[in-house]
Amino acid sequence: MAKVLVAHASKYGSTGEVAEAIATRLRERGLDAVAQPVDSVTDLQGYSAVVLGVALYFFMWHGSAHTFLKRHRRALEQMPVAVYGMGPIEDAPEHYTGAREHLDKGLAKHEWLAPVSVAVFGGRLTPERLRFPDNNAAIRRMGQIDLRDWDAIARWTDDLAEKLGS
Ligand SMILES: Cc1cc2nc3c(=O)[nH]c(=O)nc-3n(C[C@H](O)[C@H](O)[C@H](O)COP(=O)(O)O)c2cc1C
Repeated sequence: MAKVLVAHASKYGSTGEVAEAIATRLRERGLDAVAQPVDSVTDLQGYSAVVLGVALYFFMWHGSAHTFLKRHRRALEQMPVAVYGMGPIEDAPEHYTGAREHLDKGLAKHEWLAPVSVAVFGGRLTPERLRFPDNNAAIRRMGQIDLRDWDAIARWTDDLAEKLGS
């Protein structure tokens, strides 16, 4: 049975919660899947596929996702990799397009990587949790936001499960 690692580069937890939902859904589709923060992954032995979840900040990837890809390149070159980015906190098409551009810009830094699937999901903002430099007044004024579309996440995961041969 395929064993999938859903590795997440998350700062305030929402990308990690999506990773947990993806792992749960993959298990429901008959795959063996676990979610883990990228920083805690020491090696990829035993895994046959990886889903990488990347939180986007200031038009860039959370840096730990780049470190993960560099550190595990040799193993990742041998297996299917899917990537999701998070995510706009304003619900307008241009914000989703922008987030996708930021995700693609990060992907372009790893020219060896050819993901089997790439998606952008809406993000979450919890102003009271933000730390410097994220807690500026303009961001805090936006208030609580959660644009995560759990149905879209489930649909993407189902499609991925098929690609990974569940
Ligand atoms: C200071 C700040 C900057 C952000 N910059 C971007 C950005 O450039 N592009 C984007 O799509 N989302 C951006 N976001 C939204 C985050 O990606 C979103 O809140 C995401 O869900 C955070 O993931 P995490 O909870 O796993 O850290 C930003 C959020 C904050 C607080």
